[in-house]
Amino acid sequence: MLPSILLSCDLVTWCNYFFHFIKIFRRILINLSLKDASNADRGSSPTAHAAPAHYAKDRYMADDWYTPKWVFDSLSVEFDIDVCSPVGGTGLVPAKKFYSIEDDALTQDWKGFVWMNPPYSNPTPFMDKFIKHGNGISLVPVSKAKWFGRVWDEAHTLCILPPDLKFERPDGKPAQIMFQCILVGMGQTATSALVRSKIGRVR
Ligand SMILES: C[S@@+](CC[C@H](N)C(=O)[O-])C[C@H]1O[C@@H](n2cnc3c(N)ncnc32)[C@H](O)[C@@H]1O
Repeated sequence: MLPSILLSCDLVTWCNYFFHFIKIFRRILINLSLKDASNADRGSSPTAHAAPAHYAKDRYMADDWYTPKWVFDSLSVEFDIDVCSPVGGTGLVPAKKFYSIEDDALTQDWKGFVWMNPPYSNPTPFMDKFIKHGNGISLVPVSKAKWFGRVWDEAHTLCILPPDLKFERPDGKPAQIMFQCILVGMGQTATSALVRSKIGRVR
């Protein structure tokens, strides 16, 4: 009787250990495959590292409103960096380098003429850095927030985009946002490009 109880206890204990081990092993495998997938996606992002802890995974998609190609065709300039890019780029932005959420552009050095269409869920720190950098073009929605007052006061040039502007979503479908969007220029290259583009009246 006693040996059989002991044996059954042992079995239960061993089963627990076994399932615990399987769980850990499975978690390691999942982490490894996620790491591989994000490395493969990164492509043109040589300084890429893990996403900042304060970003939830679903924010990757919620902020993905891609600028339509005609905007870049009209501007007819090449940017040194797209500072707010999805991992792997959109294929539409004419830039030599891309910073994605995994690089965290807010912690990087911005050099040269930048393109910035910031994550609309958190535009303030991006706009502060863009204005301080002083060389680039940014696409932003009109807003009642404090950062927009700064844009209005400190931008070198402003240009209104058509009210029916359609972005591209990650699935390739066009979509509009509820707000009017504008282009914000900092520096002489931006001003010249905006004036030449004839997208709209430049202030
Ligand atoms: C509105 S989309 C702009 C995409 C593209 N630059 C364009 O103009 O079509 C904003 C992008 O910024 C990315 N993003 C969010 N946080 C970021 C961060 N800390 N550093 C760099 N990119 C970030 C989002 O993942 C999203 O793909």
